[in-house]
Amino acid sequence: MNFKRTLVTAALPYANGPLHIGHIAGCYLPADIYVRYLRNKNEDVIFICGSDEHGVPITIRAQKENITPQEVVDKYHEILQSSFKGLGISFDIYSRTTRPVHYQTAQDFFRKLYEKKVFIEKETEQFYDPEAQQFLADRYIIGTCPKCGYDKAYGDQCEKCGSTLSPEELINPKSALTNATPVKRKTKNWYLPLDKLQSKIAAYIEQHKHWKPNVYGQCKSWLESTGGLQPRAMTRDLNWGVPVPAEIPDSNGKVLYVWFDAPIGYISATKELLPDKWETYWKSKDTKLVHFIGKDNIVFHCIIFPAMLMEHGEYVLPHDVPANEFLNLEGDKISTSRNWAVWIDEYLKEFPGKEDVLRYVLCATAPETKDNDFTWKEFQTRNNSELADILGNFINRVVVLINKFYEGKIPPTNDLSKQDILIINAIAQAPKKIGNKIEEYKFRDALFEFMQLARAGNKYLADNEPWKKIKTHPEQVATVLNLSAQIAANLAILSEPFMPTISKKIFHALNLSPLKWNVAGNITILNDGHCIQKEPLILFEKIEDAVIQKQTEKLNQNKKQQIISVTNVKPLKDEITFEEFEKCDIRIGTVLSAEKVPNTDKLMKLEVDLGFEKRTIVSGVAHCIAPEEMLHKQVIVLANLKSRKIKGIESKGMILYAEDSNGKLVPVSPVSAIPNGSVFK
Ligand code: MF3
Ligand code: ZN
Repeated sequence: MNFKRTLVTAALPYANGPLHIGHIAGCYLPADIYVRYLRNKNEDVIFICGSDEHGVPITIRAQKENITPQEVVDKYHEILQSSFKGLGISFDIYSRTTRPVHYQTAQDFFRKLYEKKVFIEKETEQFYDPEAQQFLADRYIIGTCPKCGYDKAYGDQCEKCGSTLSPEELINPKSALTNATPVKRKTKNWYLPLDKLQSKIAAYIEQHKHWKPNVYGQCKSWLESTGGLQPRAMTRDLNWGVPVPAEIPDSNGKVLYVWFDAPIGYISATKELLPDKWETYWKSKDTKLVHFIGKDNIVFHCIIFPAMLMEHGEYVLPHDVPANEFLNLEGDKISTSRNWAVWIDEYLKEFPGKEDVLRYVLCATAPETKDNDFTWKEFQTRNNSELADILGNFINRVVVLINKFYEGKIPPTNDLSKQDILIINAIAQAPKKIGNKIEEYKFRDALFEFMQLARAGNKYLADNEPWKKIKTHPEQVATVLNLSAQIAANLAILSEPFMPTISKKIFHALNLSPLKWNVAGNITILNDGHCIQKEPLILFEKIEDAVIQKQTEKLNQNKKQQIISVTNVKPLKDEITFEEFEKCDIRIGTVLSAEKVPNTDKLMKLEVDLGFEKRTIVSGVAHCIAPEEMLHKQVIVLANLKSRKIKGIESKGMILYAEDSNGKLVPVSPVSAIPNGSVFK
């Protein structure tokens, strides 16, 4: 296919929190480099993004902050937009999914599928909060994780152990709204029958074997999962979202599923940007549609959205979906709730004028093929020994030497040495090398190729030592400085996709107005006698250890605060005497067997060896710990507690557990093994 235009989208971020480096490295920076490169080549390209302002996470944040969902998205939309701007992410439009044009576009889309009878209607039982009188999204149901015992697991996922859950699996489920126990209620929703579309989707995926292995692989595993693709509800019983078109029977109180409306946001934003021309981009076969996303978005962009587009019938399908893996921070997963992140708005405040340094480091360490780690130390090293010592140093030397020896005028070239010719070749090849890598979405390699040219320039100057040879070999020095200046001019052009501000500064120092990519690759950008700027140019300052230390301390501070804030200590009980304490006979024992008591949520029956006798003890811990985990552990037992019958089992004594403020129980063991029956004193 010969494409005539490129439509690039970057995943619409949820307007429920600020941006961090993971978002940028995963999606927005690669997209921006790609788009800037195409613009540089004078290709027809538009770059679309906006805030994703629906979905349950937004209503949850609203509830937490005690404000309305609209207030949440208004606040975060501003923050997101200014962070993108500060980092030079050059969207042609940054829209919002709460705008009227989007409501209309999304509803029209839904209507069309409804009228074409694409959907199946299904009545299901959903959890309902009888107190709040509303249906509960999976996220709004909180209970104990059946896999790890974490007692604040959500109905769709446990954030402790990472398991995907369904609300039915939660032990002791509660509504996050009212803490009421949810009940099941019947409701009707509209489903996209992905099962029926399976072969169409499979054929589409097969036409896109060129996708990155992680993307193609994930699609295959969805398609090949047992039972194949399943119908997926495209509507929800919620009050925050795009309403299901009112004329559709039973649509009252229902909104479009956020993953139905959000990708349509790409279309509505294009409409907003180009009211008269948007259809050329979306409805022509020769448009190359490219979605930049993070890996958690793959199924939505490679299966569900294409299925929606296919069934609608008028739209072009995604051609490429370059998804990145995840970026970690200092060896640990980035986490908003634990505040383990480098926030873009904070970075921009704390490192003014250094947005391109972050772009550089995030591009150089981007998680393109596997998860990758960002460390402040590496940030410093890449700034100091790559950007400052190589690129910055080279440009600075060129400017200084030409001013010093030639009053700022580009000297002519003379006879060419072998090394001069090698340099000319390196200049000639650079744009193609870099461009090819960008077109393959290998941005790290592209950036590396770019730096290779700067490296070559730096070495060329160091090898030829113009500062020494100016007296003895002036002709040779003229050639070297002419060619070095040409390298600098090429670097100005080639740096633009990666570091747009730096690019501008180099152009300015060379007294050139910005040039396009097609000029790069040759040694005639600067004519003999062309006058460059007089002032020396410091492109990158070194970053001191203290600055880095401040950042790592800040992170560790967050970690500490986290620990304190979850340890919500209970008030102390009334004083007792030592004699009263002595009444308790506390012993060490070893768990011989442990099993859950059938038909209970919390009870566990344990056999404990106290040395002098074996005891059966029933503990209310099954919601916090698995029986296997108790096996062979030494525990502490209150041995003279009056025995009592629990669920028909005689329990003699009590095992001691530590309980946190959330009611999570952890058994307590002696720090080293000690004979069973040992007393506690
Ligand atoms: N808001 C989603 C996320 O952050 C991404 C939405 S992408 C779109 O994971 F295609 F739906 F717009
Ligand atoms: Zn869990």
